[in-house]
Amino acid sequence: MRLNTAIATVAALLVSTAASAELPALEKKDQYTVGFAQTESNNPWRIAQTKSFQDTAESCNWNLVYTDAAGSAAKQVADVDSMIAQGVDAIFLPPREEQPLLPAVLRAKAAGIPVFLVDRSVDASVAKAGEDYVTFMGSDFIDQGRRAAEWLIANSDGTEVIVELEGTTGSSPANDRKKGFDDAVAGQSGMTIVASQSGDFARDKGRQVMETLLQSHPDVTVVYAHNDEMAIGAIQALEAAGRKPGEDVTLVSIDGTRDALQAIIDGKLGVSVESAPFFGPIACDTMKAYAAGDEVPAWVKVEDRIFTKENAADHVADAY
Ligand code: AHR
Repeated sequence: MRLNTAIATVAALLVSTAASAELPALEKKDQYTVGFAQTESNNPWRIAQTKSFQDTAESCNWNLVYTDAAGSAAKQVADVDSMIAQGVDAIFLPPREEQPLLPAVLRAKAAGIPVFLVDRSVDASVAKAGEDYVTFMGSDFIDQGRRAAEWLIANSDGTEVIVELEGTTGSSPANDRKKGFDDAVAGQSGMTIVASQSGDFARDKGRQVMETLLQSHPDVTVVYAHNDEMAIGAIQALEAAGRKPGEDVTLVSIDGTRDALQAIIDGKLGVSVESAPFFGPIACDTMKAYAAGDEVPAWVKVEDRIFTKENAADHVADAY
């Protein structure tokens, strides 16, 4: 290769590397076509999140392209690809699982469409906020698990046989809520997690898994569910087996749904650490800031409350 050609090739490579490290720009305009690729709609949390985006579409003047992956990561990938093909201005994505959605995020970037991750993240060792997607908007899931464990530790005599109902396998909330809780109880010599199994963040799956785990672990004294829907399913399984949730089994959970707050008021659920689903207004503000060229942090953090018997009655009417 002649010297001039070699220099030109290296220069071209440097330019393309620099370009691929840059996020796609978003021009300032009055109306945007915005994609929101929902994971599923089988629980109150997802329904509240979708409603928040739909309400915001009106107030933020979005033409909203909404899809529902119906619990399939493969469909969610196809949904994002379809939004890319339609040439939407921006994509808001709660990736159902950390790995399978990665290529779709990178394809959107390559197509010049900025992606904003909402509530769930992708594998941080492969794709990074500020480089591959604009930002992650969401809660601290590790902290949620830790706060659930701290409530348990403060409300226990110290000896517990714990069953854990995990969320969707491979999802960031399941990974992080497990880490936060498990690390906190690991320091408690009397507390043992005897089983940990996925209930896919779904009420009926949570009920079925709890029924099975009760057979092998009838001595269970604590159920930690990664979301309220599985906690409600576990309450149903425990009651069907003649157990008394809130009396002989303590339940701790995450989300802050209306059913969970009612279960706290009824004395069946001990705590629900909030995971707020109302992302629409945050999405509108963050997108506007990005289009204006303002610095957008890698993590737009959502602060969560905690619901116990001390305050559940004050919040149940406003819950979703
Ligand atoms: O990613 C957030 C989790 O996903 C919520 O806790 C759960 O209810 C939802 O399905």
